[in-house]
Amino acid sequence: MDADITLHVDGVPRPVTVDTRTTLLDALRERLGVTSPKKGCDHGQCGACTVLLDGRRVLSCLALAVAHDGREVTTADGLAPDGELHPVQQAFLDHDGFQCGYCTPGQVCSAVGVLDELAAGWASAVTPGGAQPRLDHDEVAERMSGNLCRCGAYVGIVEAVTAAGAGR
Ligand code: FES
Ligand code: FES
Repeated sequence: MDADITLHVDGVPRPVTVDTRTTLLDALRERLGVTSPKKGCDHGQCGACTVLLDGRRVLSCLALAVAHDGREVTTADGLAPDGELHPVQQAFLDHDGFQCGYCTPGQVCSAVGVLDELAAGWASAVTPGGAQPRLDHDEVAERMSGNLCRCGAYVGIVEAVTAAGAGR
């Protein structure tokens, strides 16, 4: 069964007709030509497909497009709409956090989500009970642990996310 939906992608309304079984990732990449989110594993394991959905990070390979009709989707491209880098993107550059083109867009979107979660005081698995989460190595590493790559160049990423968060 098909459904007519509109996704607001990086600030632009994008009407599209999708099979109701279509993932958000496939709707973006295959139907709308939005190639910033990458299909790595297609099983929710690598984080390459991470986008921000109304500001919260989601794995778009595990989300059904039809369930998100009318919502705001922000990709790594949309974080720099006028060509001026988002602070997280700049921090990735400054701290040598960029990895390959497959892994980086998801890493950047995830990092933006991480900083918002920390600012909102959301606990993670490593937050001491009852405490406010702190912007430190353990919190950033834990929260970014859903974004995996074979190259393991994670040191720069943790530094970049921490620095971007500190600069807020
Ligand atoms: S492609 Fe979605 S988590 Fe790997
Ligand atoms: S940086 Fe993408 S696979 Fe290693």
